[in-house]
Amino acid sequence: MGFPIVRNRRLRSSSAIRSLVRENAVSVNDLIYPIFVTHGTQIKDEISSMPGVYHFSLDRLEEEIQEVVSLGIKMIMLFGVPEHKDAEGSSAFDHNGIVQQATRRIKKQHPELLIAADTCLCQFTDHGHCGYVHVDEKTQLAEVHNDRSLELLVKTAVAQAEAGADIIAPSNMMDGFVYAIRQGLDEAGYDHIPIMSYAVKYASSYYGPFREAAHSAPQFGDRKTYQMDPANAREALREAESDVVEGADFLMVKPAMAYMDIIRTLRDQFDLPLVCYNVSGEYSMIKAASLQGWVDERAIVMETMTGFKRAGADLIITYFAKDVARWVRESI
Ligand code: PBG
Ligand code: ZN
Repeated sequence: MGFPIVRNRRLRSSSAIRSLVRENAVSVNDLIYPIFVTHGTQIKDEISSMPGVYHFSLDRLEEEIQEVVSLGIKMIMLFGVPEHKDAEGSSAFDHNGIVQQATRRIKKQHPELLIAADTCLCQFTDHGHCGYVHVDEKTQLAEVHNDRSLELLVKTAVAQAEAGADIIAPSNMMDGFVYAIRQGLDEAGYDHIPIMSYAVKYASSYYGPFREAAHSAPQFGDRKTYQMDPANAREALREAESDVVEGADFLMVKPAMAYMDIIRTLRDQFDLPLVCYNVSGEYSMIKAASLQGWVDERAIVMETMTGFKRAGADLIITYFAKDVARWVRESI
């Protein structure tokens, strides 16, 4: 018998046979597209560190939504950039907050498009933290107070549901947020609304461009007392476990590219639909290199998306969603 005895290349010999044995693929149904909404009129401002991503005022939102819907994308995620910030982040739970207004408006025109609302306070608080900041009177030390944050977050989730959000996606990383929000939604008559929990969210430098876009950088300290240490993997299991127990309907890993092992681990250990968030810094890196002509954008984005699927993600939140939807369609 000749050598080599195993010839794996047989199954790679043509495009047709490669298609037959392909194990993973990205579908338009996997995509969730984040959109930034802001006050004012006639605003479509490009975010400088995220070319191709914009802030939209309500009157310019429709053109973007039309495009998303026509591409077959089923879900968007709304991020609000408010006019007014205060210590409690009150425009997050205001009936007329920017996310609530945008939600009502989009749902009226496109009732079939699913809207996920990001439930957090950092864009809305003057200190830029994701929860309530308590300052100790004696020591003057400031800390993010877990349980008082929960009250504000529950109010926010209920206000988002009232406005018509289909999915509540809490990203704040307080302990007990899934249970608190589940109870709050149920009591307000929204027991049918799923919670997509940012279950495993690391304290990551990859959020840099988003914080510029959303004006949500913390004004003091950092988020390391509530977001996870990037060095930890077993802790991700505890975070996911607690969210499952508390009633989460989806689990999420965020960021995605440097955390593929965590996506795989959660896929193997839990049965809930698994989402990964391909965050702003990941987008910006690929975009920057593509604009320089250093990498082939389409090929590298599709390879990255396929990597998420292979790692075990069901759904992908990505700023590339519109491009991916187009490329998937073209390649059929
Ligand atoms: C709010 C929130 C953040 C992101 C999503 N929701 C920023 C943060 O936690 O600092 C990041 C998204 C991205 O970088 O694309 N808590
Ligand atoms: Zn936040």
